[in-house]
Amino acid sequence: MVSVGDPKEIGTIYGFKQSWRKSNFYRALLMKARNKPVEGIFATQSETIHRNLKRPVSGAYSMSNLVSFEPYVDTTMRVLCNQLEARFTNADGLRPTPCNMSEWLQMFAFDVIGELTFSKRFGFLERGEDVDGIMAGLWNTFKKTSLVSQMPWLEYFWTNNPVLRQFRGNGKSPGVEFAMARVQERKALERGELEKEWEVNSRDFLSRFMEIEAKDKNVPREALLVWTSSNITAGSDTTAIFLRAILHQLLTHPSTLKTLLAELDKAASDGQLDDLALWKQTNGLPYLTACINEAGRLHPPFGLPFEREVPPEGAVVCGQFLKGGTVVGMSAWVTHRDWKTFGEDCDEWRPERWLCDPDERKRMEAALLTIVFGEEHLSSGDL
Ligand code: HEM
Repeated sequence: MVSVGDPKEIGTIYGFKQSWRKSNFYRALLMKARNKPVEGIFATQSETIHRNLKRPVSGAYSMSNLVSFEPYVDTTMRVLCNQLEARFTNADGLRPTPCNMSEWLQMFAFDVIGELTFSKRFGFLERGEDVDGIMAGLWNTFKKTSLVSQMPWLEYFWTNNPVLRQFRGNGKSPGVEFAMARVQERKALERGELEKEWEVNSRDFLSRFMEIEAKDKNVPREALLVWTSSNITAGSDTTAIFLRAILHQLLTHPSTLKTLLAELDKAASDGQLDDLALWKQTNGLPYLTACINEAGRLHPPFGLPFEREVPPEGAVVCGQFLKGGTVVGMSAWVTHRDWKTFGEDCDEWRPERWLCDPDERKRMEAALLTIVFGEEHLSSGDL
């Protein structure tokens, strides 16, 4: 695999209008049902399957739709705050109980995804633990698949080995089991076979996916499961890592924290922020945005290069001709530390670098894979 570090090549390799084919790296990430791979939006190597799975749901990921989900993020945020207050603060002034915020942010991120996707949290925050081993299951899956993704031939000896398969059970991860149970439950609700004992948001991801499935006869059979479990596998840990990275940097850089709190206090005293601030109220705060960009730059949530295959006619990358089929990839951990883009102090935490002139900021934003792929999440114009 040719590892490419120059951010200028992001457009060549991941140009989303005509993207290069995903490499065998992604085969390892395919979900399995009854030990058979199931094509998903994230991991399929086929452009046609990708388009057929993504086109119908791209509207659900548009910015306007995501913003409409905000009240449901807030519901979960209130649960988080109540839990932290009940478990870790001490009204009688005694020593407070230490709190592992890293774990709580991870439970928060998963529960938000549960709420947005199924109108049902996983219950991690309420219980203060990893219910049914869902987070641990995902961690184990990623640990194994990261190895296979780097050595796809391992599949033949390990993942697809019929002898080992006997000992591995049904091969379903607890996260996928959760998604399957929610889909079955919602179908039973719709058929009137189940009493509604919790509040179902009629516009959550699952209801939208079910409407799409009912209308579009070309949607693949496994689509409901693929769409809902993609939210869990692609959206939970990534968000948790990002939140943890921001908090870690703030706690280890008191001067940054002070500046950020001053910006937030000012906005609050000017009456610009609700009790739980809205995205549209915080989106324009320059120092907060700088901290988010800088945390995503120094600690991107994904560690391995996103591999693609050079198209059959070959291509020039960083001035070198690479023949068709060559596997290339960019790692955010390399690209985000490109000194020509971010300066000699590219290894340092310095959110102030983002408070520069707009052209310079745009140039740096274009080199952040967190931002580039973030826009890809939202893009539907190319589909
Ligand atoms: C900070 C949080 C997130 C980060 C850093 C992140 C990062 C990424 C990256 C880098 C990719 C492209 C991977 C590749 O091409 O190999 C991707 C794809 C994807 N992500 Fe995220 N993601 C985040 C949050 C989410 C959330 C919250 C969801 C769902 C609710 C989500 C759903 C997806 C899906 C479905 C894809 C596949 C899209 C496609 O292939 O067209 N992600 N994400």
